[in-house]
Amino acid sequence: MLRRTLLAASASTRLRTAITAAALTRNVVDRFVAGETTADAVAVTTRLLGEGLLASLDHLGEDTTEPEHAAAATQEYETLLGLLAAAGLSGGGTASPAEVSVKPTAVGLRLSPHGEKTATENIARICAAAQAAGATVTIDMEDCEAVEPTLRIAADLRAEFPWVGSVVQSYLRRSERDCAALAEAGARVRLCKGAYSAPADEAFTSARGVDGSYARCLRMLMSGPGYTMVATHDPRLIRIASAQAVRSGRGRGSFEFQMLYGVRPAEQRRLAEAGQRMRVYVPYGGDWYGYLMRRLAERPANLAFFLRALASRG
Ligand code: FDA
Repeated sequence: MLRRTLLAASASTRLRTAITAAALTRNVVDRFVAGETTADAVAVTTRLLGEGLLASLDHLGEDTTEPEHAAAATQEYETLLGLLAAAGLSGGGTASPAEVSVKPTAVGLRLSPHGEKTATENIARICAAAQAAGATVTIDMEDCEAVEPTLRIAADLRAEFPWVGSVVQSYLRRSERDCAALAEAGARVRLCKGAYSAPADEAFTSARGVDGSYARCLRMLMSGPGYTMVATHDPRLIRIASAQAVRSGRGRGSFEFQMLYGVRPAEQRRLAEAGQRMRVYVPYGGDWYGYLMRRLAERPANLAFFLRALASRG
């Protein structure tokens, strides 16, 4: 119930204005967001790489309704990729220490009348910049409505950029079918639980259902020929992934763990120190509202942290 309320709040313009304007929110934002500027993102990436971690950078923003905003977001990714290359933080293609994650609705998917075409063209520009930087691009998965067009965009782009990564959300009932379709040689697939809400006929609604689906998808991906990106903080699923990797005879360079910036940082370091590839998803930029609300929805303790920060300044 609380999760649904917070996810609904993530789409409320009135709440967005009130919460974004409150300077007191800063403490909480800083925990999950790497900073506002491209320079902040590069500085945090440099630090994480120095700790033996990898990074996927996400320029915050979603549900863009103005073509100029979609163009500006695309330009931001191009600039970022140039800076990552200049700082020696990218290179090696699929083994690149830093890569980027892109939300199709941030680069035009919801623009009418040609949103899908605009998003495809903009992500293609980002892919070209990534290729020049020796980095990769993973296309984030958003709400249910975005799933089909996002998979089509990724499939289109893979013809020219075979390393473009896709995301499967295990809360969706369709996720095993999507894993089967994506399990091909060279395919990079990030498996996560899913941070949005969806109707019960399309999604598992219990934690057990979502976790069971995650484990089944994991088995399909790990035993297939592609590169698997295990995106979860869940200790049980991390154990299952490690065991599955051994069962599937996967070497350490053929899959990676992924976690969000600010979530279980000690576990991130532990996995990296144990020799695993551990990539941190690093969001940055001023448009953090929707992202922050999804993090609060995931964990009641985060909401308590948020409310305490508000009260302590009140
Ligand atoms: P779960 O939420 O069950 O948490 C398991 C445990 O992890 C918790 O008990 C707690 O200890 C810890 N934890 C989890 N979330 C926390 C938080 N916010 N703060 C503190 N502790 C927390 N989703 C999506 O729909 N589309 C996408 O493209 C992506 N991309 C993505 C990339 C990466 C790298 C990650 C790690 C996650 C995503 N997600 C995503 C988000 C994902 O779908 C999911 O919402 C979160 O990862 C939380 O799910 P867990 O698997 O961690 O399990």
